[in-house]
Amino acid sequence: GGYGSLNGTMQTFLSEVQKDLAQGMLSPRVLNDPDIHRAELDRIFTKCWVFVGHVSEIPSPGDYVLRYVGEDQFILARDEQGEIQLLLNNCVHRASPVCRAEKGNTSHFRCPYHGWIYKNSGEWNGAPYRAKAYRTLDTARWGLRKAPHVDSYQGLVFACLDPDAVPLREYLGDMCWYLDIVFGLNEQGMRAAGDPHRWIVPANWKSGAENFVGDAYHVQSAHSSLEDIGLLPDLGESLSTQFHVALEGGHGLIITPNLLPEPLWVMDYPPEVASTFDLARLGAGQREFLESRYGVVGFTIFPNLSLIRAVASTERGRPPVCFTALRQWQPRGPEQFELWNWPMVWNSAPPEFNQASYEGSVFGFSPSGVFEQDDTVVWRGGPMVGRSAFARQDMKLNFQMGLDGMSDYKPRPDWMGPGEASTSVYGESNQRRWWQRWSEALASS
Ligand code: FES
Ligand code: FE
Repeated sequence: GGYGSLNGTMQTFLSEVQKDLAQGMLSPRVLNDPDIHRAELDRIFTKCWVFVGHVSEIPSPGDYVLRYVGEDQFILARDEQGEIQLLLNNCVHRASPVCRAEKGNTSHFRCPYHGWIYKNSGEWNGAPYRAKAYRTLDTARWGLRKAPHVDSYQGLVFACLDPDAVPLREYLGDMCWYLDIVFGLNEQGMRAAGDPHRWIVPANWKSGAENFVGDAYHVQSAHSSLEDIGLLPDLGESLSTQFHVALEGGHGLIITPNLLPEPLWVMDYPPEVASTFDLARLGAGQREFLESRYGVVGFTIFPNLSLIRAVASTERGRPPVCFTALRQWQPRGPEQFELWNWPMVWNSAPPEFNQASYEGSVFGFSPSGVFEQDDTVVWRGGPMVGRSAFARQDMKLNFQMGLDGMSDYKPRPDWMGPGEASTSVYGESNQRRWWQRWSEALASS
């Protein structure tokens, strides 16, 4: 019941979605429908743990940045006690945004409308002419609205707006094992290399989330121009060695053997970086993963956080460098999303490497990124076909790859990590599972 409840038509639609997915199909309505969009905000973004930033963005008491959960704007602040808070950026007096800077450092936020003041922990702290205006205000209940749960894992900060949330570690589940490998190779860890890049993409947010959970198949086609101009090696060849890992909860990864030739490098990091890693921090299975020369090339944590870890030469003749970026698909209505991209660097790495890695990241994935242009052009088809009166009648998108069990898309035997690993990327099981999780989240009360 309540504001987020779905009417019968939507319930019927979602059970059709689940039946379709079992057959490897999906209605394109999911990529533009305004009712579905509203339901996502009410039932996914208020229930799931959603990424809101990296601890390195707010290292000191008073630091804050503006962030979003779904389409709601929040202040992510480190309070005077060093605790991380996520505060709705709307005054409880008349709803004015209390903070208008994208980032900064302050102990208090003062609302511009009538001047109410809040601590950076969210507590009510004062109002102009208080003695005349508010003799008996119950100040304890008139603080800024606060996310009931904020927690971090390997430096990644998530918030959940549902008071009854499961703990973050339980929500992430087996993804923690892989996050240790990507971000936890030493005590110092990674940091955001500056502020996230942000730009609007004319596509539905789910196209990005679904792509990064398993779509390695598009690389040989959508990104073939990079091979044509000599900046990437044989794409078909590197694809043929990649595979999927499917996790519970709609999370999933694309795993790649090392992309660079040097046999001793850890996850494509050169010796001057790899020598700063402390692999004793990892478990035996995680070390075996690295010793097998595997790396994570991409993942999606349900609903809308993804990772890219790849290599790029930023110009012909320049050696390729490994880069890492977190990216988030932020809904902005059903037909567009805001893409946020955080290039990440190692605190322990030489500055020259971090600079080259950052440049590789911006070259590949950013508002001007060469991969990014390819992806965001093709994703425009979602809203187009979603709003097409003709397509809405009965068109289905095909999600059947690997479903017949006849291709070489099989369970990988003896996988050293958690989750179900496949033998190749020529299947769409991760994508179907992501959509299955999405439909279940929308259908649940
Ligand atoms: Fe904030 Fe009135 S709206 S003080
Ligand atoms: Fe791509």
